[in-house]
Amino acid sequence: MPSHNPIICAIDTTDVAEAKALAASLKPHIGMVKLGLEFFTANGAAGVREVTAGGTPLFLDLKFHDIPNTVAGAVRAAIALKPQLMTIHASGGKAMMQAAADAARGSGAKILGVTVLTSMDDSDLASIGVQATAPDQVRRLADLALRSGLDGIVCSPQEITLLRAHCGKDFTLVTPGIRPAGSDKGDQKRTLTPKEALAHGADHLVIGRPITQAADPVTAAKAIKASL
Ligand code: C5P
Repeated sequence: MPSHNPIICAIDTTDVAEAKALAASLKPHIGMVKLGLEFFTANGAAGVREVTAGGTPLFLDLKFHDIPNTVAGAVRAAIALKPQLMTIHASGGKAMMQAAADAARGSGAKILGVTVLTSMDDSDLASIGVQATAPDQVRRLADLALRSGLDGIVCSPQEITLLRAHCGKDFTLVTPGIRPAGSDKGDQKRTLTPKEALAHGADHLVIGRPITQAADPVTAAKAIKASL
């Protein structure tokens, strides 16, 4: 297990009280909470502040994608929430990623690129004019993210080994699609266990429902931590 706690609990809800209670009870057992578009659209920055008020480290997963000036402004606004990690779409291009990296410099927030959404396959890419296969497009965008000054990327369990080899040891790799041995996969099709994902070279593991939907989320988080 790395020196930090690699578990990031994805809290996907619109309910501030539920998110706050989960974050508070899980804090000793996880490294960060992830709040994303669902929570943020419902509750905004004030809702985020309520959830992290107890000092829970934050991954703010808002996947910005706009012109460079607008993304830089959004990154500056997000930094006020003191996230450790935040996301932008790498397909927004080099100038957009550089503007985001510049806006975050010195803040302590790491900017991660999202490459190809795992909901898209080769035919979805072709339908938007991308002729590359999904793995080739992931590699291309990861490379562009690295060269544009981003701190890392979000990648699927299948991509960790290749991207670690390609992007070097200092590039932060954050991986969802993690399922503890024996747990329900839900809609995630290709999964690794937490221990396997770390062995492949992931830095942080995004784990949602196996913790949040467990009968006892604290027990579930503790068991995952003990398995690493
Ligand atoms: O509940 P589960 O562990 O599947 O939650 C995973 C989290 O990671 C969710 O917030 C989901 O939106 C996010 N995610 C994902 N797969 C990706 C990118 C993000 O599951 N490729």
